[in-house]
Amino acid sequence: MNQANPQQPDADRHDAITARCKALRMACWHIHAGSQDLSVPQDGGDGGRWLRAAMVRERVWSLGVSWLEDDNPQPVQIESGCWVFPTVEIESRRVVGIVIALRFESSVFEGSWFKSVCHKVGVDPAKAQDDLTCYTGIGKADTQMLTTTLSQSVQDHAQISRDAGAIDEFSEQLLDTYEETNLLFRIARMMNSLEDPSDLIPTFCHQLLPVLPFRWIAVRFWASKRNIKGLTDRLVVAGELPCETDAFDRVVVDQLGDHTQADWTRLLEPSSDGIAGLVGSEVIVQQITHDGEVVGVLLAGNKAGSCPMESDVTSGEMMFLEAASNLLGVFHENIARFDEQKQLFMGTLKALTAAIDAKDQYTRGHSERVAYMGAMLAQAMGMDAKEIERVHTTGLVHDVGKIGVPEAVLCKTGKLTDEEFGLIKLHPVTGYNILKGIPTIDAILPGVLYHHERWDGRGYPEGLKEKDIPQIGRILALADTFDAMSSTRSYRPAMPRETVLEEIRNCAGTQFDPALAPLFVKLNFSGYDRLVAKHGAAARAAA
Ligand SMILES: [Fe+2]
Repeated sequence: MNQANPQQPDADRHDAITARCKALRMACWHIHAGSQDLSVPQDGGDGGRWLRAAMVRERVWSLGVSWLEDDNPQPVQIESGCWVFPTVEIESRRVVGIVIALRFESSVFEGSWFKSVCHKVGVDPAKAQDDLTCYTGIGKADTQMLTTTLSQSVQDHAQISRDAGAIDEFSEQLLDTYEETNLLFRIARMMNSLEDPSDLIPTFCHQLLPVLPFRWIAVRFWASKRNIKGLTDRLVVAGELPCETDAFDRVVVDQLGDHTQADWTRLLEPSSDGIAGLVGSEVIVQQITHDGEVVGVLLAGNKAGSCPMESDVTSGEMMFLEAASNLLGVFHENIARFDEQKQLFMGTLKALTAAIDAKDQYTRGHSERVAYMGAMLAQAMGMDAKEIERVHTTGLVHDVGKIGVPEAVLCKTGKLTDEEFGLIKLHPVTGYNILKGIPTIDAILPGVLYHHERWDGRGYPEGLKEKDIPQIGRILALADTFDAMSSTRSYRPAMPRETVLEEIRNCAGTQFDPALAPLFVKLNFSGYDRLVAKHGAAARAAA
């Protein structure tokens, strides 16, 4: 929504007409109808000084003003041998200015007027005549031709100016359309790439802000039939609110929280409204609806502008934000559905993995405990809440590939043959293949595939070494082995805590990441012990 410089086409056109008059060997003045400002010839030595003399300018000025009121002004010989030609500039059937061209016949230099002007401005008449000679030599018979030529010239430039204006306007529209289309494209692409679709709304606001002239945009979703974790009942702001965000949020909830109200106002005025008063500007409010239910509200305000008129919200901006709020309604529905489907799918995966664990009384609850300890380590490493949750989720499904291992092998109480162990070793790749085609859970794939890799490269399936092993794989390797050693197995009893921790310390730099192992052994294991007790009770109840 760029603003063209409205002065520029007039200035360009005037320069072009001045050049055309010079080519026709004439001096020219220009009176703009709006400003009644007279432009004067800028060059010409002593001839120019003569042309700019007050005595000349005043006569040209008074003639020009009368011509502005005249439907069909005609050339006039203002003194013997001095002709002035009017050409009216018309745009959209409106007189916008007048171009006055001057042409001399040689007789002017003999007249008293020429000499008295020279005397008044202090120039030598002979020198002024020399400088003005380029304007001499026209006879009265040429008047009609010169009038027509000038008129066509002015019309040509008016047309060029209109065309340039139309091109500018079209370019602006094209740019705006491009920006809006590009925004939709980027958002559609993000829908497919975001691990967490609730990120879409903050990203949407940040993408929208530079396309619009507002200093801030805010979105708030109310509790509705479909709530989205991390998004419902939270204010999302892009740009800079001119007040404290919490205070703004409170006023928005107080004022708009009852979204069933019938008298909905889309443009809030600072003089009469709490929200607009708080930010000190007009505020656009758009309800976000889906299937007839109000699910949220989109707000925008503090429009940038150097003067009050430019700061007023336009109907075009209202329409664009209405379209944006419609999009947000659709996004909300899609995100909510996606979230539900993802939760359902992850729930199925977790239940499946838990069922695999439960096939063997000794591994019951294994994945839940690995998830718990993995998340504890991630927290100790300083990861953010989202990363910790990712580690936890991956822990819950890390052994999903065991679905491909025959039950006889999975639950065998005796020592495994090499062939049987080979089947067990396939489970990371099987798990990876089960999950790899599912959008938005890409982030958990490395943990599933690489939780049996070792720091020294002697793990499986790929024998990756050190930091070539994705970090989540190194985290889960610690949690997985800790739980395996801490649990009773068919072939051995559970190892004491201190023995397990000593083993982990000893294997730092061989089996485990040497930076993570020391962090792991210092974790608080009380929550883990409670899980062990819970799973043990469940196993006894099932027996
Ligand atoms: Fe495993």
